[in-house]
Amino acid sequence: MSSLNSLPQASLSQLFTEARTANGFKKADLSDATLHALYDLLKWGPTAFNSQPARYVFVRSAEAKEKLKPALSAGNVAQTLAASVTVIVAQDTRFYEHLPTQFPAYEAKPLFENNAALTEATITRNSSLQGAYLILAARALGLDAGPQSGFNPDLVNAAFFPDGRYRANFLVNLGLADPAGIRPRNQRLAFDQVAQIL
Ligand SMILES: Cc1cc2nc3c(=O)[nH]c(=O)nc-3n(C[C@H](O)[C@H](O)[C@H](O)COP(=O)(O)O)c2cc1C
Repeated sequence: MSSLNSLPQASLSQLFTEARTANGFKKADLSDATLHALYDLLKWGPTAFNSQPARYVFVRSAEAKEKLKPALSAGNVAQTLAASVTVIVAQDTRFYEHLPTQFPAYEAKPLFENNAALTEATITRNSSLQGAYLILAARALGLDAGPQSGFNPDLVNAAFFPDGRYRANFLVNLGLADPAGIRPRNQRLAFDQVAQIL
């Protein structure tokens, strides 16, 4: 390990070992510049064929939060309204239209246009990865994140993506966590329970 160029322990703590999922937020403004900085980090996370199928709606205004509210599971309403911004991590069902510029070395667009199963698997896998990059980029910038799958995707899609091209994958609340809301940390599965080295 000593030859690896590891981040310092403080950074590993901020990204992983001490980072917690936020389920309550203090009042804090998140500027456009911070949201741009967040994207400018997360966009470098790798995706298959550099496909980048995730799309992001930063729900920040009170008006936009009200639009999102009817789609939220009851237990997620308070934390979502309290968050500075709620990101709808969505999926572009026609992500492959960008492949000629994003992956010019290979003509990959027809591969997806003519294969719905491959397109679906690529969208699901890679937009979820990009959502994870978003969570870690937020932590790297000193923000707290609270991912949520407790919402009705049909309602989100009807309200925010009426033309059907984009679809909601999951939500991520962003802001500064209210430590009062943090529940005790749950354990994680041990290496031997989840991994094998062959
Ligand atoms: C994809 C995803 C969906 C989640 N959905 C919800 C949710 O709907 N509501 C909620 O309060 N927490 C939700 N969580 C939070 C998890 O319960 C939490 O991240 C997990 O228990 C680990 O907590 P920790 O990071 O504080 O250790 C979700 C997390 C992820 C990654």
